[in-house]
Order: sequence, then structure tokens, then C-alpha cells
Amino acid sequence: MASTNESTTLSGVTAPFALIEPSAAGDKLEDRAKGASLMAAEMCIVHNCFIRGINAIYLQCVNVATKGTEQDKVDFAGFTGAWGQMIEEHHDIEETDVFPEINELTGMPGLMDANVEEHRVFHDGLSSFTAYIEKVKKGEEALDGDKLRGIIDAFMPSLRDHLEHEITTLVELEKYSDKCDWAAWFTKKGGEIASKGMKSSKYRSEVFPLAFCLHDKTFAGGIWASFPPLPWLATVVLRWLFMGTHKAWWRFAPCDLASQPQKMPFV
Ligand SMILES: [Fe+2]
Repeated sequence: MASTNESTTLSGVTAPFALIEPSAAGDKLEDRAKGASLMAAEMCIVHNCFIRGINAIYLQCVNVATKGTEQDKVDFAGFTGAWGQMIEEHHDIEETDVFPEINELTGMPGLMDANVEEHRVFHDGLSSFTAYIEKVKKGEEALDGDKLRGIIDAFMPSLRDHLEHEITTLVELEKYSDKCDWAAWFTKKGGEIASKGMKSSKYRSEVFPLAFCLHDKTFAGGIWASFPPLPWLATVVLRWLFMGTHKAWWRFAPCDLASQPQKMPFV
């Protein structure tokens, strides 16, 4: 197993791809976001989960491949594959459900098209990533950390840009606040998407737990520590029901299932 580096393992995985600052969504500890900015802040929490996830993959893949056991490699491929599944589902739902509804609510057809266009820019690179990990999971290809980093380098800069641009687009929806209470709408939409997802056992055991261990409650002075907005008891029950199935995968995450930073084993 690789030697650990305390400063990197508990720094909130801010590299190689930078996290999005709460200020991008207009959220500050001393002046909390409202309306469209609150919606943008909630999207920003999710986008930062994606960035932490790919940083954890990038930082550990070479050492897992060269120093890990066969079991480490299998578990790491599980963790990495779950990240790919999570981000692909996110963009699918935006394209088929969230963005069309925004266009409709604002009465501005095509308003969100630029964001969909950006999905096209990294789509092929992301597909190569998921195809490669699928092959590793099936034992058809060996885990090669340098190869994986090369695949990530090809799409991640444009994906990272997209994740921040989308926040700006959402903040700008404030000008349509006469047409929609964005914060309320987004809470309702998020609830609908989550309950639809929870009907799938793959989502319950692979994507749902990943969201918890890619969110860092300590980020930016704890500004988003209350996310997700679930009562404590519900979190305990959910953790008990769904989060243990792939426990071995989640050890590669930057945070534990309570969204507190943890030491990553292969940094
Ligand atoms: Fe998004």
C-alpha cells in the first residue's frame, strides 16, 4: 500500500481539479443565498461531489494499480465506475427533465441549450472513461493508472468548466423570479429525482452512498454542513439500509459516509 500524505488526504481533495467556491453561487456564511442563488448553491454542492470524486480517482489510481492487491483493484474499479454512473445519470436527468422544465417555466425555449451543448464537449471522453472501467471490472483489461489519468485528462478540464458555467446560468435565473420560486421548485425537483432513483437497487447501493462520501461537510468553513437536509435518524436508517453493500468501495472516497474527511489509502 502506498505511503499516505496527511496534507493531501485530509485537504478536501482540491486538486488536480479545483472545487467550485460557494461565492460562485452567491452563497456566503454571513449572507446566505436565496432564490435562484440557493438553487445554484445546491447544484454547486452536487458538482463539487463530482470534482472530489474524480480528484480521489486521479490521486490514487497509479498507486492502486502498482501497489494494490487484486482486491484493492476490484474495489477501486467499483468506486470509479460508480462515479461514472453518477455523473452520467446527472447529465441525463438535466437534459431530459430539469433543463426542459426551466425552459418552460421561464417561457424561454432554448434557454438552457448552451449547457446541453457543453455536455456534448466531454461526452465522448466520459464514455471512454466508463467503457475502460467496465472492462477493468470485467477483468478484460488491467487497471493502468497512467492510462486512466490520460483518459481523465482528455475530458475533465472541459467537464470542470461546464460544472462552474452551469452554476452561473442558474444564478442568472433570478431575473425570472417573477415566474418561479426557484428555491422551492428545485427542492421539489430534487426530491422527485431522489425518490425515483431510490426505486432502483443499483442506485440505492452504488450511487446514493457515493453522494454522502463525496460531500465534505467541513468545506468552506462548513457552509454546506446541513446538506443533505435529512433528519439525523433518517440518515442513520439510510446508512444502515443501503450504505454497507459496497463498503470496500467507499474507502477510496475523500470523506466517510457521514461526509467527514477521511484518509484516502492510496495517496
Ligand atoms: Fe448539474
